[in-house]
Amino acid sequence: MARLLIRGGRVLDPSSERDERADLLVQDGSIADVGPDLEVRGAEVVDADGCWVAPGFIDLHTHLREPGQEYKEDLGSGGRAAVAGGFTSVTCMANTDPVNDDPAVTEYILNRARTDSPAKVFPIAAATLGLDGEVMTEMAALAAAGAVAFSDDGRTISDAGVMRRVLEYSKLVDVPVVVHAEDCALRGDGVVNEGPVSTRLGLPGNPCLAEDILVARDLMLTELTGARLHVAHISSAGSVELVRQARERGLSVTAEVTPHHLTLTDEATLGYDTNTKMAPPLRSVVDVEACRKALSEGVIDVVATDHAPHAVHEKEVDFADAPPGVLGFETAFGVVMDLVREDEISPLELMRRMSTNATRIMKVPGGSLAPGSPGDVVILDPERRWVYDPAKGYSKSRNSPWAGQELTGRVVATVVDGRLVYHCDRGVLVP
Ligand code: DOR
Repeated sequence: MARLLIRGGRVLDPSSERDERADLLVQDGSIADVGPDLEVRGAEVVDADGCWVAPGFIDLHTHLREPGQEYKEDLGSGGRAAVAGGFTSVTCMANTDPVNDDPAVTEYILNRARTDSPAKVFPIAAATLGLDGEVMTEMAALAAAGAVAFSDDGRTISDAGVMRRVLEYSKLVDVPVVVHAEDCALRGDGVVNEGPVSTRLGLPGNPCLAEDILVARDLMLTELTGARLHVAHISSAGSVELVRQARERGLSVTAEVTPHHLTLTDEATLGYDTNTKMAPPLRSVVDVEACRKALSEGVIDVVATDHAPHAVHEKEVDFADAPPGVLGFETAFGVVMDLVREDEISPLELMRRMSTNATRIMKVPGGSLAPGSPGDVVILDPERRWVYDPAKGYSKSRNSPWAGQELTGRVVATVVDGRLVYHCDRGVLVP
């Protein structure tokens, strides 16, 4: 029997409200026991003294680029970067090449991930064919093949009639629709947040209103259809307020925010660094504060990285021409620890946003350290300082706004189905 004993950590399990020093036993792939001073013969022991022990992180928004753009990332490199960031399960967006709008692509991703990725991978299928926003995909077939949500992420479904039908059909398969909220006409050619920073840079602005108007529309369509809506990478104070009101009205809406939208403002773009370009763009300090407050209050349910690898040659161009997106897995914990240090969220609640809440939104495993749960665990050192170097990371790409920066808070080890798959001193250990 394979046994792993994680000894002496601060066990943070949002599913049972547990926050206390204890040992955790993982046996044959599942959580077997949690409690003080467990005596287990023949177990591999991991010392977690001074560390947090939590359910493995779950990322509901990633781009793993396979099939089709393996020069940026593939399911193996993306999966290794995920576990190095403490993520045991990730969902991946459909903007691959070919687009994941066909069950054969969904099955391909699942099969490749099974052999190549140490993290569990769950595909999100396209809502419309080719992400063109016109013709709906075969949702029932995609869900049967394993799609855990539908999204045209990277693009917006501009036609409200199409979005209405997507929401209606998603109900039949009981899978949420993830909206990338950006009104294309209002965004225009905008590449940074519209405001003083876009003026100073002399670059076209992308206003908060482009996001807010789409969120407002889709909340109304959600009310009409009774479907489940998940708002991807929320970034504006206006959208946050709309989601708050919709929840008060009882709508089935959830939301995610990225580490970058929680900690960086549009001022970070003042040096024209294309590694600060993403969609939606970095916003003003007012927006960042609204996102932080909403995350701590639970109006925003989860932190999701929007891990979006792009090759060096693609980012080494003029700001306006660079593709949007930044790496997210390996820096996520060190970056969001800022909220704990600022006393804006407790460690237990942060773990809920990084893990447990995701299992309410999509059918992904984990999120709990209760006996019988999957043996998906992360061990974290909240005080450890380290300097992030993307060249030494596991992603094939380098596009991070935190390159060369010191972060406080480090993933020490990641366990998937009871197997130690990553240790910060030994690197990724499988496959
Ligand atoms: O920054 C982003 N990058 N936002 C998106 O919506 C798409 C993503 C990508 O695929 O690179």
